[in-house]
Amino acid sequence: MKKQHSILFVCLGNICRSPIAEGVAKKIIKEQNFDLYIESRGTGTWHVGEQACFNSRKVCKLHNVDIENHRAKTITQEDIQNFDTIIALDDKNISSLEAMGIKNLKKLGFYGFDNQDVPDPYFFNGFDGFEKVYNMIEISVDNLLKNLVK
Ligand code: 4NP
Repeated sequence: MKKQHSILFVCLGNICRSPIAEGVAKKIIKEQNFDLYIESRGTGTWHVGEQACFNSRKVCKLHNVDIENHRAKTITQEDIQNFDTIIALDDKNISSLEAMGIKNLKKLGFYGFDNQDVPDPYFFNGFDGFEKVYNMIEISVDNLLKNLVK
């Protein structure tokens, strides 16, 4: 039996950007009946066990994406072995992942945004900017998934 293809989205804290990417991807998979497995991680350890940040949950709710059950985790060597595709949200994540020995890496912005970083919204002023981040993630994730299943 063919193994289900798995994708891991990785940002810094696993509380703002990659949980949105995971939630959006899971929604698309459900709607389109794609046979893919999705999780997300952070490269840092500060927020392990926490829910996604308030504004990520807010923007996801506004778009009918459910990330309420998300709890932050840090990427491990085991994850690197287990996931087929690892997608970083910005260049800082790319550097950290390369330092862990991952070679086959892509940035989410490659899929429709000239390989730009998805901006880190942790230090944004309130909700401002979260819609832009959401939009960028939604378009790129949609392109990525279509690319993988075609
Ligand atoms: P994320 O955002 O990488 O999108 O989850 C951040 C969350 C926490 C921190 C930085 C970015 N932090 O420095 O604690």
